[in-house]
Amino acid sequence: MPPSVLLTRRIPSSVVASLESACEVELYEGPTPIPSDMLKKRLVGKQALISVLTDRITADVIDAAKDLRIIANIAVGYDNIDVPAAKARGIIVTNTPDVLTEAVAEFTWALILAAARRLGEAERFVRRGAWKEWRLDFMLGTELRGKQLGIVGRGRIGRAVAAKAPAFGMEVLFATRRAGAGRHERPSDEVSLDELLVSSDVLSIHTPLTPETRHLIDRRAFARMKRSAILVNTARGPIIDEAALAWALKERLIAAAALDVFEREPEVLPELFEFENVVLAPHLGSATRETRTAMADLAAANVIAVLAGRPPLTPL
Ligand code: GLV
Repeated sequence: MPPSVLLTRRIPSSVVASLESACEVELYEGPTPIPSDMLKKRLVGKQALISVLTDRITADVIDAAKDLRIIANIAVGYDNIDVPAAKARGIIVTNTPDVLTEAVAEFTWALILAAARRLGEAERFVRRGAWKEWRLDFMLGTELRGKQLGIVGRGRIGRAVAAKAPAFGMEVLFATRRAGAGRHERPSDEVSLDELLVSSDVLSIHTPLTPETRHLIDRRAFARMKRSAILVNTARGPIIDEAALAWALKERLIAAAALDVFEREPEVLPELFEFENVVLAPHLGSATRETRTAMADLAAANVIAVLAGRPPLTPL
């Protein structure tokens, strides 16, 4: 019997075709993320799983998947998978780094610009027919030139966002999780999170979601930020305490926020809809045709390699 793979979501047909040359392919086509019980059932007899970030691959699911050899997540983040449980069973877990870096960096800049120049608010204004005259002092935004971009995290995406900052005349500082590093042990463009919070005009989150980064941006953090600051998140929703964000916006502790990710996707904290100065996007960071195809391709290549007894391309 050839090995078989479960796809929890439709992927480009060219990628399915390459998988079909190596194994049997089963696709889950439900309207919502595959329920846990269904996932467990469908994984019986499967050697590979190609998952997406809305699938919760818990220890329970992993335990039920007796034949599984690889979980290939179509995402760079993998907080949806219990990786230690998979590793304990000898199951390989892979993600899709590199191929999405530029797409996410570009989208981050789209959000920075949208928040700084009030693009969401402007669009809503024109669409509801409210535009009656041009005025010199109308809907003024803030200029990026000469301002500081603070980046939380210094991984591939954080660095790619930083690389575009000179084009906008922005200075960049990073805060990383460099354990216990004192000021003199850090590169000159790295500061503590506290220093980054206090000094940034735009603060952009580019760190994975872990127990340590959950609610990293909380009430205390908002109280430290500049009242003129813009907060941008294209990483994972729970890194920001959304209730604290709503409070900070209400108290005008920051000027604006632009969010592509949320604590309970696809739910958005209803209070956030009330603020004109919040840009909201439905988790689109890597959503270009090129990148999503490359992500699916890489996940499939990982599965094909492992099923053929070769090492995976991008293991965790
Ligand atoms: C998307 O959020 C990803 O982790 O790739």
